[in-house]
Amino acid sequence: MVDAAAWPGAARTDLAGHSVGTLFFEDSTRTRSSFTLAAQRMGAHVVDCSGAGTSVSKGETIVDTALTIESMGVSALVVRCTPEDGVRAVADAVQCAVISAGAGAGEHPTQGLLDCLTIAREFDRDDAFDFSGLRLLIVGDLAHSRVAGSAVVGFTKLGGEVICCCPEEMTPGPPMASSLTIERDLDRVIQDVDIVMMLRIQMERGADPGSMNAYTKAYQLDARRAALMRDDAIVMHPGPMNREVEIASEVADGPRSRIWTQVRLGVPVRMAALLHCIQSTT
Ligand code: CP
Repeated sequence: MVDAAAWPGAARTDLAGHSVGTLFFEDSTRTRSSFTLAAQRMGAHVVDCSGAGTSVSKGETIVDTALTIESMGVSALVVRCTPEDGVRAVADAVQCAVISAGAGAGEHPTQGLLDCLTIAREFDRDDAFDFSGLRLLIVGDLAHSRVAGSAVVGFTKLGGEVICCCPEEMTPGPPMASSLTIERDLDRVIQDVDIVMMLRIQMERGADPGSMNAYTKAYQLDARRAALMRDDAIVMHPGPMNREVEIASEVADGPRSRIWTQVRLGVPVRMAALLHCIQSTT
């Protein structure tokens, strides 16, 4: 799908005649836009029913909204919501394919897939997708990050090692914590990894960094810390970034950054996800 995604318009016709509903009950730039482009690149139509302006504001539930759009005749629903079990509740209620676009602080599976694809292409692992020997460092608010949840699942399933670096109050709970090495000293651990993934502080999910000055001093990826990294190590960030908080602009825009590669690969990953899920259910 990577080559097809680079074409403007409908590069493929696999999903011609299908419609895809996008139901985003939380804000999104990357995921929502890339699912829309992905559906269009595959020849499908998109009906967007997201956020303000929907009957959710009148008290309609997420599941009833999903049933409403499904009744109009869609082959797949792409759902983002705040409850961690919200996407599962939709999937249990409808017959069409349901793809999670991020559920609360739980999982964000297509982000995990695009992160793995970015790493596989960067380190020439995209034939067998064998990540053995690769070390991924995830830094920041792991306690509230659905991106981390899916990155950990994907990266470890492919054979890589995940290390986390965060303050005590942002330490992930079980089950994620049980499979991870948790470090506190970023200057030390950053020197011995292949990929550094920075996370935004999820204020909307109750994260409390305490003193922001203390947080940025201990955990911001700035130019001094980036200089400690291995020569071939890369920097990732799922976005949206809070520049000068978890990452300095000179690193986000610098030569190690693969942030825009991640965004670009979101489209082909979501083309593949839509095709796989619609073919599996129709
Ligand atoms: N990475 C991510 O999910 O970004 P959006 O919230 O903009 O979709």
